[in-house]
Amino acid sequence: ALKIVTIGGGSSYTPELIEGYIKRKDELPIKEIWLVDIEDGKEKLEIVGDMAKRMVKAAGLDWEVHLTLDRREALKDADFVSTQFRVGLLDARIKDERVPLSHGVLGQETNGAGGMFKAFRTIPVILDIINDMKELCPDAWLVNFTNPAGMVTEAAIKHGGWKKTAGLCNVPIGHKKQAAEKLGIDEDKLFFKFAGINHFHWHRVWDDEGNERTAELIDLIYGPKTEQESHLKNIFDASFHYEQIKDLGLLPCGYHRYYYIEDEMLAHSVEEFEKGETRAQVVKETEARLFELYKDPKLDYKPKELEQRGGTHYSDAACELIASIYNDKRTEMVVSTQNNGTITDLPYDCVVEVSGPVTAHGHEPYNWGNFPPAARGIIQLMKGMEETTIRAAITGDYGAALHAFTINPLVPGGKMAKTLLDELLIAHKEYLPQF
Ligand code: NAD
Ligand code: G6P
Ligand code: MN
Repeated sequence: ALKIVTIGGGSSYTPELIEGYIKRKDELPIKEIWLVDIEDGKEKLEIVGDMAKRMVKAAGLDWEVHLTLDRREALKDADFVSTQFRVGLLDARIKDERVPLSHGVLGQETNGAGGMFKAFRTIPVILDIINDMKELCPDAWLVNFTNPAGMVTEAAIKHGGWKKTAGLCNVPIGHKKQAAEKLGIDEDKLFFKFAGINHFHWHRVWDDEGNERTAELIDLIYGPKTEQESHLKNIFDASFHYEQIKDLGLLPCGYHRYYYIEDEMLAHSVEEFEKGETRAQVVKETEARLFELYKDPKLDYKPKELEQRGGTHYSDAACELIASIYNDKRTEMVVSTQNNGTITDLPYDCVVEVSGPVTAHGHEPYNWGNFPPAARGIIQLMKGMEETTIRAAITGDYGAALHAFTINPLVPGGKMAKTLLDELLIAHKEYLPQF
């Protein structure tokens, strides 16, 4: 019987997870689900936790759903630990977005200055969780959703030494659906290969007759006659330049917009900033509405309104990964995992986001090889930036933090890098004991 723990259980995404477990009730012999949160999230935990209990009951299952602020009690003898916490909650995200934007610099929760600060706040906590796991559940799998998911996963595997970690994101799922729809071919008849790092990966697509369909998809999705859509609630639908994507020869991910067409994304974000409607501010209102719904004692299913969050299909990733490990299903998935030579352009021991089957012993990525020079240059820069950010998050070294800021493509170097870093260090002081 399984004991599954979710850290950050008070998240409005929890019904996604519960729905995913219920769908897989025949493959997962769950006995206990533990939702863990902290004092600041207590009220949310109780509301969404009661809703989770109703969902389980409505499905006719006898799973125990425990709500607790005691992480250690929850972790004892756990089989799977999933993480979806946000240090400082949405108020901290508002700062991640608004402080850079107040200087005319891109502010985003997983990219640029905001993303680096989310890493600074989160990495010490994930390493603490791993210390507890070493003592309380040494054989458990860690399934990380906490953003920036790539850096948090790399910190867990490389620095925490927790090899049984899988990092997940819903973005690849959306791209698979998009390709199937555009080609008019069932998703399971297509073969996908993704490679890169979290929120910065590319992919290629083949059909079941062995023909590569990538170039055709580039035309269908980004061609001059197409109205481009990001397919993500949180990403503005600005259009990539078709000629550049065609030259690249790989399908980009939605988040590449922040890099390939940075000025347009920035202009849009500045407009939102001026109206007081940055994504974090909008999400805060969505979250409030969701929790009002969750309070309804009659609601015992995931409400449609949750689709207004960027993380839809989230449970297809988390719950399927758990089912695939537990049953050695070998479901093909895109996972943040240790490179081990999969991408020859990146360090052997770093974490990359790549395709491959999920086995009982974890993810077995397909070989990707190398990137064309135009993609190789920027992915190497991005990985170096991530490694420097992680080092700063662990050591609290100001020079390392400034260096990460300086080389991040979304932060202008020089005085601006330092001004932003200093302001954000003050804004997030209470969550940054290492600095
Ligand atoms: P949220 O602000 O609701 O935070 C979730 C919960 O974490 C809150 O209830 C909060 O109290 C709790 N928390 C904060 N610090 C904690 C700690 N130290 N220990 C335990 N719990 C703690 O966040 P959200 O918007 O629901 O998102 C949750 C997380 O999942 C974020 O990190 C977000 O970036 C991530 N996310 C990732 C993906 C993905 O594709 N990987 C998709 C959606 C969300
Ligand atoms: C996408 C990303 C997630 C991110 C989310 C933000 O789904 O994959 O990593 O957390 O969007 O959505 P939100 O509704 O919080 O803006
Ligand atoms: Mn993601």
